[in-house]
This record gives sequence, structure tokens and C-alpha cells, in this order.
Amino acid sequence: VHDSKKIILTATTLYGLEEVLAEELKALGAAEVVPENGAVKFTANKELLYRANLQCRTAVRILMPLKEFSCRHEQELYREVSAIDWSRYLNSNMTFAIDAIVRKSAINNSMFAAQKCKDAIADQFRSRTGKRPSVNADRPDLRLNLFLANNKAVLSLDSSGETLQHRGYRLEGGKAPLNEVLAAGIVILSGWAGKEPLIDPMCGSGTIVIEAAMLAANIAPGLLRKKYAFQRWMDFDSKLFESIRGELTNARKSAIRGPIFGSDKDGKVLTEAKENARRAGVEKLISFERSRFQDLKRNIKEGTIIMNPPYGERISERDLKQFYSEIGDTLKMNYQGFAAWIFSGNPETAKTVGLRTSKRIKLFNGPIECRLLKYELYTGSRKSKYHDAGGNGG
Ligand SMILES: C[S@@+](CC[C@H](N)C(=O)[O-])C[C@H]1O[C@@H](n2cnc3c(N)ncnc32)[C@H](O)[C@@H]1O
Repeated sequence: VHDSKKIILTATTLYGLEEVLAEELKALGAAEVVPENGAVKFTANKELLYRANLQCRTAVRILMPLKEFSCRHEQELYREVSAIDWSRYLNSNMTFAIDAIVRKSAINNSMFAAQKCKDAIADQFRSRTGKRPSVNADRPDLRLNLFLANNKAVLSLDSSGETLQHRGYRLEGGKAPLNEVLAAGIVILSGWAGKEPLIDPMCGSGTIVIEAAMLAANIAPGLLRKKYAFQRWMDFDSKLFESIRGELTNARKSAIRGPIFGSDKDGKVLTEAKENARRAGVEKLISFERSRFQDLKRNIKEGTIIMNPPYGERISERDLKQFYSEIGDTLKMNYQGFAAWIFSGNPETAKTVGLRTSKRIKLFNGPIECRLLKYELYTGSRKSKYHDAGGNGG
């Protein structure tokens, strides 16, 4: 495969972030960018394939489709997969794995679908060479992705491997924090671009403020990550990859204009947030403080505030409503001049904030339908450095 060769790729994302990802891909120079449901199709070359993995903040995986086919029963699946010349991608000393997603199809079991693909590939090697590549689910040399919906299949090479939200700054374990891809998407949707102050007063492990700092400082989200599946491909161009990494490393800024503040009432999660920020290389760009949102005093007149309050586990519906109404009161009293965004998995409760929303964006956190709600707290008369008075903000 030559560098200039055109390849058609699919970047997957979380539902609701397709347009954001499409814009990111266009900014990288992708052609024929078409947002779909949970994914964006685009045309690229090898360089852009590497860049999409390293630079897209809202991509989950970058897939390279090999074949689309009708798939009404197991014989058809086996036959279509057998018809691909697998020696182009694999040899019998390599390992492989298949992730299968199955929806509304005659074959309704993803394990079964994956097994049929594996059989077809292994049988091809066995009949040609007498030796077959083996399966390694955790660290395969080649990762494939089968997407089967409405009896139509797309079989792709997965160029990413572990999903791209794994940036490398967060250690595994601990409480369930916000998905990094979702946090980056929320920051981009808010329109905050690093020029004005940003506050997350319930920052937890710091995902929103860290993603914001990386965005403002032009730090590519994939720079920290050590492994991509494409590094094991037969046509991997390590020189090209290293030159892109080098360029991105040099493009990082060490200072930003808009200060970033993260606070939380829980000192333990705040320690974790600081550790994460340090690993991400943005600890100097974020000020952390322990405080309840209701008690937070900041001498800032305007900016953007983004928060991801608790949704409800372990809190009664009544206490939660009381809490959201206190959030509304605090915003009204202490944050005039701000654009406020609340990300909530509990839109009913969010109504008790008691402020008029100026935007409501539907997003999915895995299977959970969520809302990103915007409240404009600018006073009509005030002249703002950052927002048009009464305007639409971001
Ligand atoms: C859903 S978590 C935020 C997760 C965060 N976005 C992350 O990625 O880790 C909600 C956070 O709000 C904090 N919190 C709850 N009530 C608070 C209050 N009154 N003031 C400040 N923080 C509060 C909790 O300690 C918790 O860390």
C-alpha cells in the first residue's frame, strides 16, 4: 500500500458526537466525510489513518472496511469471509481476533458470528499452507471487526485496537468516571476554545478539565498512548508514524489563555484528578481546589462552566431534586456572565434546576440517554468580552 493510495475508512463514535467527529476529520484533511449513525465515513491515505488515531478527540475506533456483503445465514458468512485473500494481512505465525457486533439479523449471536469468521480464516490457511494462525483475544497481531445489522455485514480491519478513549493518563479502577471521548465531545460542543476561563465545579477524576486542557494546549489525545493495532500491520510505516508523532509533540503549547479550574467536594477524587492531570502533562494548566459547588468563591466575572453532577445512584430522588435546585440557585447567584452546561443522565431531575435552557443536546453515555443542557446566565445589559449580550453564545 502506497502512502498516497486512497482508502475508505469508518471512524466510530458515541451516538450524538457524529457531527463533532466529522468536523475533526475535515480539519485533519479527510475527504468525502459523511456522518452516519454512531460513525463517520471518510476517505484518507495512510498518513491520515495514523493521524485520525492520534488526533481525533471524539473517535472511538478507526476501522478500515475490507468487504460489505449480504449475510443471511452462516454459510453465506463463511463463504464471504473465505473469499478474502487473508495472506495479504496475516501469516500463519501471527495471531488474530474478531470483535463482532450483531443487530436485527438472522444470525443473532455475536460469539457465533465471530467463530464462523475465525473458522473461515483458519481454514483458508490450513488448506493453503497446512498451518493456521491462532486466536489471541487480548493482544492479537491483527484485530478484525464484524458489524452485522439487518442481515448486512461489514468486515473491517480495526486500526486502533484498544478503544481510543484510553488515552493513557487514567489508571484503571476507581469510580466510574466520564468516558474521555464523551468529555472531549462535551467541551467541543460547549464552544469553549481556550480563550476564556473554564470551571468544572464537580470535576471528579478530572476528565472534563483534562480534556479541555489538552484541547487548549493542542496536545494530541493519542500522544501518550503506546500501542495502536496498525503498528502490527504488514504495511506499517514506522518512519511515517514517528514523524507524525514528532510533529505533534512539538506542536504542544506550554501555556494557554483561558485558565481552567477543577473542584470537587471529595478530596479523594481530587487527588486522583491531580494525578491524572500530571500524567496527561497538563497539571500546570489546571487549578484544583476542594470545595462544595455551593460554597465555591471565585473572583471571575465570566466564562464557561461545565458540570457532570451525580445522576442518582445511592441518592434518593427527593435529595437529588433538592440538589439540582441548589445548582440552579448557585448558578443564578454566583455565575452571572457565564455560559453554564450541565451534562446529566437524568433529564427529569435536571428540570428542577429551574433555569431556562437555551440548548438541549442528546448524547449517549454507552446505552444511557443523556442530555447536555445549556443555560445562558449573561445579563442583557452587561457588555461581555467573550459572549455577545443576549446572543447564542457558543
Ligand atoms: C458524576 S461525578 C463526576 C465525574 C467526572 N466528570 C469524572 O470524569 O470523573 C460527580 C461528582 O460530583 C461531586 N459532587 C457531588 N456533590 C457536590 C457538591 N455539592 N459540590 C461539589 N462537588 C460535588 C462528587 O464528589 C463527584 O465527584
